[in-house]
Order: sequence, then C-alpha cells, then structure tokens
Amino acid sequence: MKLSTATVPAFLSLLVAAAPPAPKFNDVTLDIVNAPLAPDGFTRSTVSANGQFPGPLIRATKGDTLRVKTNNKLTDPTMRRSTTLDFDGIFFDTPNAFNEGTPFVTTCPIGPGASYTYVLPLGQQTGTYWYHSQLSMQYADGLRGPLIIYDPEDPQAHLYDVDDESTIWFISDWWHNATLSLLESYNFNQIIPVSDSGLFNGRGRYNGGPETEYAVSTVTTGKRYRFRIINASARSDFTISVDNHTLSVIGVDGVPVNPHTVSVIDALAGQRYDVVLTADQPIGNYWINTVLGGGAPRHNLNLNVTFGRGVLHYDGAPDAEPTGPMTLGPQPGDPARILLNEWELTPLFPVAPPPADIELTFLTSMTPNASSPSGFDSKWNINNISYVSPLVPTLVKILDGDDSKTEDTFILPANKVIQVTFPPSTEDELHPFHLHGNNFWVIKSNGSDTINEVNPIRRDVSGAGAGGTILRFTTDRPGPWFFHCHIFWHMNAGLAAVLATGVNETRHAVHPTGAWDDLCDAYNALPAELQ
Ligand SMILES: *[C@@H]1O[C@H](CO)[C@@H](O)[C@H](O)[C@H]1NC(C)=O
Ligand SMILES: *[C@@H]1O[C@H](CO)[C@@H](O)[C@H](O)[C@H]1NC(C)=O
Ligand SMILES: *[C@@H]1O[C@H](CO)[C@@H](O)[C@H](O)[C@H]1NC(C)=O
Ligand SMILES: *[C@@H]1O[C@H](CO)[C@@H](O)[C@H](O)[C@H]1NC(C)=O
Ligand SMILES: *[C@@H]1O[C@H](CO)[C@@H](O)[C@H](O)[C@H]1NC(C)=O
Ligand SMILES: *[C@@H]1O[C@H](CO)[C@@H](O)[C@H](O)[C@H]1NC(C)=O
Ligand SMILES: *[C@@H]1O[C@H](CO)[C@@H](O)[C@H](O)[C@H]1NC(C)=O
Ligand SMILES: *[C@@H]1O[C@H](CO)[C@@H](O)[C@H](O)[C@H]1NC(C)=O
Repeated sequence: MKLSTATVPAFLSLLVAAAPPAPKFNDVTLDIVNAPLAPDGFTRSTVSANGQFPGPLIRATKGDTLRVKTNNKLTDPTMRRSTTLDFDGIFFDTPNAFNEGTPFVTTCPIGPGASYTYVLPLGQQTGTYWYHSQLSMQYADGLRGPLIIYDPEDPQAHLYDVDDESTIWFISDWWHNATLSLLESYNFNQIIPVSDSGLFNGRGRYNGGPETEYAVSTVTTGKRYRFRIINASARSDFTISVDNHTLSVIGVDGVPVNPHTVSVIDALAGQRYDVVLTADQPIGNYWINTVLGGGAPRHNLNLNVTFGRGVLHYDGAPDAEPTGPMTLGPQPGDPARILLNEWELTPLFPVAPPPADIELTFLTSMTPNASSPSGFDSKWNINNISYVSPLVPTLVKILDGDDSKTEDTFILPANKVIQVTFPPSTEDELHPFHLHGNNFWVIKSNGSDTINEVNPIRRDVSGAGAGGTILRFTTDRPGPWFFHCHIFWHMNAGLAAVLATGVNETRHAVHPTGAWDDLCDAYNALPAELQ
C-alpha cells in the first residue's frame, strides 16, 4: 500500500520527515581518452569520453545522486591534456559548489593520469542536459555528450509515446584541426575558425569528403516521439526542421513548457529543446535539416551547411536516403515556416519572478589590440573588462577568507533577486549567455519588445544581441557561478564573469573533500604542457 502524507498519522509523518531517503547512487565512469574518430569521414585525434563521439549518454532518474568518475587518460600534445567537466544546466546547492567543474572558478582541472569523481545530487531536476569539457576549447575536440534525467512521473507523459536513447538529437559543430592550433589562429586574426562540418548524432559530411552515412531516427506510423534536441555546438547556432513535419515544443533547457507547435527552431549553442514529433505522414524517409549558422563558409571551404542533416525513417520505408532534395528547411516567406520565438513559450508551472532587488547592466564589447602582430588580437569584454581566469579558483579564495577579487567578479548578496540587463548592442552578434548552477527568468528576449514579469520561461541559456535582453534570477543558491557566452571562442577571449553570490554563506556551507583539495596541488605541480 502506498501511504500518501495525508493518511499518515502526524507522529509518523514526523518520523518520515526526520529520516531523509538514502541517496540512490547512479555510478558512471568516463575514461577521457585521445581516440582517433571520423564522424564526418575525416579521421582526427580527439578528446573523447570512452572513445565515443558524442560521449556516452548519462542516463539518470529523478532523485538520483550521480557519481561521474572521470579518469583522465589524455596523452596527445596537440590538445589540452588536463580536463574538467561541466554538467550544463544542473543545479548545485551551495554545499556541493565544489563539484561544479568550472576551471579556476569552482575547481582546478584534473591532470593527466589523475581521476576525480563528480558527485551530483539531482534533486527534483528532470529533462534534457549535457556535459562537456569546460577547459579552454577542449569540448570542440570532442568531449561532449548528453545527460538526460528521466521522470517516472512526468507530467507531460500523456503527450508522447516514445522517449528513449533513440530519441536524442545531439547537434554539434566539428573541426578537423585540434583546438590548440585553432586558438592560436583565432588569437592571431580574431576570426572564429569556421567548422569543417555540422554533425547530427555524430555524423556529417564536408565538401570533398566521403559520403558518410547520416544518422537515422526510426519512427512507426501513428506514434508520438519526444525528441530531445541538444545544441552542443561551440560556435554555431543551428536551424532545425524536419521535412513535412511540425514540432511541438514541450521543454526548454530542462524546464517544461506548454506545447507550442512550430516547424523551425533556431537553437543557440548550449540550448536544449524537447519536442514532440508525430509520425503522421506517408511511410517514407524525410530529411531532418540541422543547418549550421554563424561564420562565413568562405573562411572554410570544407563547410557545406547543406550537408548538416539526419534521416527520419518510417518503419516499412526503404532503407535509403530520402529522395527529396536536401534543403535548408522552410525559408522566410514560405507559409510552411513557423519559427519558434522564445517569448511565445509559456512555462507549464509558471512562477512569477519577484521584483528585482539589485539591477546590473552588462555591456558587451570587443576591443582590438593594436599592438598585437596582426593588429587584431582582440578581447571580448563585459563592461570593458575582459575575463581572465585567476590562477587560484574563486571558490578556493572564498574558503580561504581571501577577499581580494578580480574586477570581473561580481559580489552579490544571498537570497536577493538580481536583474541583468544587456542593452541593445551595436554588434551583429547574438551571444548565448549561460549561467552555471542555476536558471533565470527571461524577462525580455532579444527578438521581442515585450517585458514579461507574469509568466516568463526559465532556462539557462538565452541570447543577448542587438535587441537587448533582460534576465532575472535569485541568489538563493549561493556560490561562485560562472556566467559566460556559450560561443566558447568568445568565452576564451574574455566574454565571461563570475557572479559570486552569498560569499559568507558559501564560506560556511562548503566543506570540500580531500580529493578536491588535491586537484589544485596536483595541477599546479604539472609542467605547462600537461596543464
Ligand atoms: C588546419 O589543418 C590544415 C591541414 O592540416 C592546415 O592546412 C591548416 O593550416 C590548419 N589550420 C589551422 C588554423 O591550424
Ligand atoms: C547551435 O548554437 C549555435 C551558436 O549559437 C548556432 O549557430 C547553431 O545554429 C545552433 N544549432 C542548432 C541546431 O540550433
Ligand atoms: C513534403 O513536402 C513537400 C513540399 O511541400 C511536398 O512537395 C512533398 O510532396 C511532401 N512529401 C510528402 C511525402 O507528402
Ligand atoms: C554543397 O554541396 C552540394 C551538393 O554536393 C553542392 O551542390 C553545393 O555547391 C555545395 N555548396 C557549397 C557552398 O560548397
Ligand atoms: C596586445 O598584444 C600584445 C602583443 O601581442 C600583448 O603583449 C598584449 O598583452 C596584448 N594586450 C591585451 C590587452 O591582450
Ligand atoms: C567603456 O569604455 C568606454 C571608452 O573608454 C567608455 O566610454 C564607457 O563608458 C565604458 N563603459 C563602461 C560600462 O564602463
Ligand atoms: C535580435 O534582436 C534584433 C532586434 O529585434 C533582431 O534584429 C535580431 O535579428 C535578433 N537576433 C537574432 C539572432 O535573432
Ligand atoms: C560576512 O562576514 C564578515 C565577517 O564575519 C562580516 O564582517 C560581513 O559583514 C559579512 N558580510 C555579509 C554580506 O554578510
């Protein structure tokens, strides 16, 4: 018999409340290795989890405590040999801030030959997330994969029939060169290296390359599929559509929303969309168009955005590519084009944002460096300050009672409501800003003039650009949280800040393990080339 709290006598319910359930551990091991892989037909050395791209699915159930044992087995000198993992979108309560793997904010990287186990109590979070290396540009070398938290009591379960490993759409940009050389080139001319291909579930093609088989999603007529779209790109945004099908959006960045039907989704780097696709078309094969945006293909003749795609295959259809043309999906002017507008989404469980206690204005800008050899070596800034990683992680300083802070750290009180306004920028860029360890309300989206303080969506990545963007969040989960542009090239050039919320509360609540303390000692003892 299942006891609901209502039927439990008062004294018993006190007992129940006094004994929290034992954590349900979910153990995962990731060996971080340099495997040769050829997702688009071009073989290159990678940094990858268990030698796979995308990395293995981390499958969790609501309430699990994930323990991700990360063994650094990297040896290839063309890429960073240390590593650290970020679990994008996962909340970190203050006592656990030290497991939030942001290098030089909450941790030191794991050196080659070393291991660290990230412990993540998932609490009530459910939905679509991902993990990636947070060190330098290393995730573009391959270290990125999906993390899904399934909910056995999903309030949206009636909306779909199928939701499993086969319904994840992991979309990413891909480079043939290792990122250390790409970063050198970027630092020299400030042109973000344009990727060689766009990958759909780890498969793609490039101009002049072999006809790699596209990844296939198989469906059965009449069934409804919950596809979990993860834009795991480091640079590019993607436009997603499926020929002859609409997509009903039911979740963004792990937060359920009321179903909203569209045919085209523009996803920014780091964003996730859960959509329901109904297999209601004649049995056949249909293109899933995942079109890479951002960056002029003329900077890389390998890139052919038309090649970014997968196949939606109906049971009973021939085992073949669709016969229809490879298009970029419905274009402006086409009546079949129903574009997803972020501000039209409404949360399934609305929470009105409280009024802001503190207002911050973040102006993004780029400053060219006239004295660099190329004349370009520029930096990205927030309020004229380009983020530079400290040598000692911010969290270590907080715990040591060292109150010195760098100018790109914002000290904010605990348990307040913070509003961050990005005024309309003059650059032609949409920066996907991502907050670690928390989510925010999107009070105003870049593309809309509407200020929504009633039922805005909550998410953890939103674009800031020419239209202006307003985000609001609470500091009820104190800790030093990284806030950065998810175009990792820009982040590396300084487009980031640390929001150190509740410094005293953090100092009192965080008691890291010896294993975490050891990371910094070991990392600092490494020669530069192994860091
Ligand atoms: C990338 O690799 C190609 C082929 O090896 C080389 O020609 C090119 O210069 C490299 N680009 C960068 C930015 O390292
Ligand atoms: C992923 O995000 C990047 C960067 O914002 C964007 O250029 C790309 O189009 C997005 N991809 C998808 C499939 O939405
Ligand atoms: C899919 O849509 C295209 C364009 O509207 C149309 O020409 C084609 O016949 C449709 N295919 C099927 C199988 O309905
Ligand atoms: C992309 O590939 C298609 C098919 O091979 C070709 O027609 C087109 O010219 C290519 N586009 C670019 C920009 O290379
Ligand atoms: C500008 O470039 C010079 C020469 O490469 C370099 O020494 C200096 O640190 C750069 N300045 C900034 C702010 O990055
Ligand atoms: C940034 O620097 C420019 C030029 O020095 C100055 O006009 C502007 O007020 C500064 N902006 C901020 C937010 O400090
Ligand atoms: C951002 O908003 C501006 C102003 O509404 C709009 O012109 C621009 O296209 C938007 N950017 C993107 C990438 O949606
Ligand atoms: C933090 O603690 C210090 C010393 O205990 C105290 O002086 C300071 O006022 C506290 N700050 C806040 C914001 O509570």
